[in-house]
Amino acid sequence: MKKIAVINGPNMNLLGRREPDRYGSLTLEAINARIEAEAAALGAECEFFQSNLEGEIVTAIQGAWDADGVILNAAAYTHYSVAIRDAVAAIAAPVVEVHMSNVHAREGFRRRSLIAPVCAGSISGFGAAGYSLALLALLKCHAGEGP
Ligand code: DQA
Repeated sequence: MKKIAVINGPNMNLLGRREPDRYGSLTLEAINARIEAEAAALGAECEFFQSNLEGEIVTAIQGAWDADGVILNAAAYTHYSVAIRDAVAAIAAPVVEVHMSNVHAREGFRRRSLIAPVCAGSISGFGAAGYSLALLALLKCHAGEGP
């Protein structure tokens, strides 16, 4: 069975209550339950992790070294964490960067992602569906096939 790690960064534990106009009304637990069901239907299992602390996120990424893929919403750390970027670059597993909001349509500082250049790809602007799209990307795109 394929293993996918789903890692969320700071303030993502507040989903459902946090800026619902921007991030929607689903809690992180509800989103995770959906991804878990979608993964099971595709023959995969997920491990979920959320932290507000940079070092804990780094450790979680390192722990996913041999996973079949990582879905990562590093939230605000996306825009300035060299440590998270280095962890993504280090591990063998492909990482898909997810943002619920369209970061390119927001403040200038959100347009820069330190993580994007070391990820397999990025998904931004599709709300909670972004996690499902990332799951499909990891399970349906086969390494070596090219774009
Ligand atoms: C976010 C976008 C980030 O800029 C922001 O700091 C977040 C959430 C998103 O999912 O749209 O916390 O990663």
